[in-house]
Amino acid sequence: MLCLTRPTPVAWVTKALNDLDAVLIDHAHCELKAAQNALSLVPRALSRPMADALLSLADEEMRHVRQVLDELDRRGLRLGTPPPDPYAAELRTLANRSRPGGRDARQALLDRLLVAALIEARSCERFRLLADGLAGAGQAALAAFYEELFEAEARHYRVFTELSAEAAGDRALARQRLGELALAEGQVCDKLGAAPAIHG
Ligand SMILES: [Fe+2]
Ligand SMILES: [Fe+2]
Repeated sequence: MLCLTRPTPVAWVTKALNDLDAVLIDHAHCELKAAQNALSLVPRALSRPMADALLSLADEEMRHVRQVLDELDRRGLRLGTPPPDPYAAELRTLANRSRPGGRDARQALLDRLLVAALIEARSCERFRLLADGLAGAGQAALAAFYEELFEAEARHYRVFTELSAEAAGDRALARQRLGELALAEGQVCDKLGAAPAIHG
């Protein structure tokens, strides 16, 4: 799917469906982090359209936060403090290390946009799996919710890849770097295994 170099293991879907409460709590944190990340990129935007795209994205992620919080409320669950996020942390570390000579501000922005694109791509892949798994388990309402989010994440992936082309100043260069980081993302997924979390 999209640019991903490794599919999510089948075992992940079973674990996720067996511990939906854990998945939903982790998911709420992911949406919150997606909004925070988009906002943190606004001061680094290279143009007003780039800033506007990031603000619109943050708006939508905030709407997703509220929707997942509604589901937590229905289940009597609390958000709590964010769990450690080794997936995003390792991805950023690998992006850093893969430019041994250091990065200028533009390269740093490009990498942040591409890491965000990869995170959206992985969420997109997993929301598809969740939507199908939930539909198969007769949980139609939650399946429809994840179907809607699957479409949103595919759109967000495209937004970040478009912005990365602007940051790179060259579409081919952005694609090449996306390919490098997608390999790193696959390694991180292999290392983390299949916990009941959106990026576990
Ligand atoms: Fe979202
Ligand atoms: Fe998103």
